[in-house]
Amino acid sequence: MSGPILVVEGIHKSYGTRRILDVPVLTLAAGESYVLTGENGSGKSTLLRVLAGLEHAEVVACRYDGRPVDLGNYPDWLRRDLIYVHQHPYLFRGSIFDNICYGLRARGLIKASYEPLVREAIAWAGVGALLDVPPHKLSGGEKQRVALARARVLQPRIFLLDEPTANLDAEARQQAIKLISDLCDANRTVVLACHDREIIELPRMNRLNMGRGAIETWNGGAVCV
Ligand SMILES: Nc1ncnc2c1ncn2[C@@H]1O[C@H](COP(=O)(O)OP(=O)(O)OP(=O)(O)O)[C@@H](O)[C@H]1O
Ligand SMILES: [Mg+2]
Repeated sequence: MSGPILVVEGIHKSYGTRRILDVPVLTLAAGESYVLTGENGSGKSTLLRVLAGLEHAEVVACRYDGRPVDLGNYPDWLRRDLIYVHQHPYLFRGSIFDNICYGLRARGLIKASYEPLVREAIAWAGVGALLDVPPHKLSGGEKQRVALARARVLQPRIFLLDEPTANLDAEARQQAIKLISDLCDANRTVVLACHDREIIELPRMNRLNMGRGAIETWNGGAVCV
């Protein structure tokens, strides 16, 4: 197994008297894939959102690539390396192309630089035939594929995917699984929250099971305590 890319110690979060997260240590190895399982309400989305800096939790210490990081004061450079894809991705007005190139333009890339990357992401996600469809008219599965392309084009080191196959029909689900499996094979670090048996059973997938806010069991390596 490769070295750790992210180590978070002492993750705690409560709502009132309800403890939502109580994780002593979470260690993610570079290039590994993890699936977070657990009952509804067990804290999977909350954990992903805390890692992505979208939600606050008490954290004792965090190291990214060996460098101390304050998740409570989330650094912009970390947002470039770690991307969260929502279960129901929000696509903004404009075109699919605009949605996928947005992050690259925000990073200051000129059209000649971003256009080939966006074209490649469109081909990867298999959304080339949909480019004239307004994003709000896309189906759930199509939106999910655009969102995966929009994340991948930014070449993050860690993908956090929240229930990427939930509520998709059989064909859309298979298309999403193929993209996810491809990300996992491409030596990206991928953490997915999901209940999808086929994803859980993908080769090389490390399973982290959440219960009562803690990570109870795992396999495929010494991942969590
Ligand atoms: N703002 C809030 N106030 C109080 N409780 C909250 C709030 N947000 C989330 N929770 C609770 O936190 C718990 C964890 O929610 P979370 O969405 O992380 O679960 P999950 O494992 O992703 O569930 P699912 O499988 O349904 O997606 C839930 O019991 C939820 O009710
Ligand atoms: Mg959830």
